[in-house]
Amino acid sequence: MAPRVDALYYYLLGSALAVVLLVAGLILYFSLKYRKGSRADRGPISPLYRAIVETTYIGAPLIVFASMFYWGATLFFEGVQSPDDAIDIHVIGKQWMWKLQQPSGRREINELHVPLGRAVRLTMISQDVIHSFYVPAFRVKQDVLPGRYVQTWFEPTSLGEFRLLCAEYCGTNHSRMIGRVIVMEPSRYEAWLGGASAREEPVTAGARLFEELRCAGCHQGSTPRGPALDHVWGEKVQLAGGGTVVADDDYLRESILRPAAKVVAGYPPIMPSFESQLDEEDLLELIAYLKSLSNQPRHQP
Ligand code: CUA
Repeated sequence: MAPRVDALYYYLLGSALAVVLLVAGLILYFSLKYRKGSRADRGPISPLYRAIVETTYIGAPLIVFASMFYWGATLFFEGVQSPDDAIDIHVIGKQWMWKLQQPSGRREINELHVPLGRAVRLTMISQDVIHSFYVPAFRVKQDVLPGRYVQTWFEPTSLGEFRLLCAEYCGTNHSRMIGRVIVMEPSRYEAWLGGASAREEPVTAGARLFEELRCAGCHQGSTPRGPALDHVWGEKVQLAGGGTVVADDDYLRESILRPAAKVVAGYPPIMPSFESQLDEEDLLELIAYLKSLSNQPRHQP
C-alpha cells in the first residue's frame, strides 16, 4: 500500500505546487503588464472571453479536486477492507504501551512479529484513552479508541524492523509509547511462534471463560433463558422493541458489558453485566470463541 499512498501524496503535493507557480507567475506577469504608465489595453473584455475564462477556472479545479477525492476514496476503501485469509492480531492500547496477541496466543508488549508477504489484520481497542497505532514505513495510522473495536491491516513486503509509534497525544509518556514491528521469513516466524512455551489460543481461552462464567447456564440447554450463541456472530439479530442489529464484535462486547442496551426479541432482560469481571483481553477472547462457533457447521435439526 505504501507506494500507492505515496503516489497520491505526490499528486496532492504536485497540484499544490502547480497552483502556487501559476498564481505567483500571474501576479508577476500582471504587475509588469499593467504597471503604472504601461500601454496595456485596459478596455472592457468581450463577454465570450469572460465566459471562457470563468468556465476554465471553475472547471479545472473541479476536475482536479474530484480526481483527488476519487483517488483518495478508492485507496481508503482498500485500506479498510482486509483480505479474508489475513492473520488476526489483537491489539490493546493502554497508557503507555501496546499489548499484542498472536492467533497462537503468544503475547507481546511493544513488539509485533509478522511473517513476510502475509496480510495481517489488527483488531484494536484501548482500555483507557485514545491512542493511535502508527507504523510510518507501512503508511498505517489508525486511531485506537476506548469502548469500540477498530480494524486495520497491512501486508509487509520487506524484511526488517519498523518503528511502531503512538500518534495520538495520550498523556505524560505518550512519546515513549513506542515499539517495533519485526518482519520475518515465514519459516522463522513459525519457529518463533513455536519457540514460546505453550500458551492458550484466544479461542481456547474464550471457551474456558465461557465455561467459568457459566454462560451456557442461560444460553444453552433445552429451555434457554437467553438466545443461543452458536452461529450468532455475523448474523442479523432481531431486537425487542423492533429493529435489527448485526452481531459484530462491537455488538457482542456491548451485550456482555451492558446487556440491557440491546435486548434480543423474545427474551427477558435478565442478564447481569460482566463489566467488573472482564478486561479487554478477556472480551477479545470471548468474542474470538463466539466467532469460532459461527464458523462451525450448524447442528442438523
Ligand atoms: Cu498512546 Cu500516545
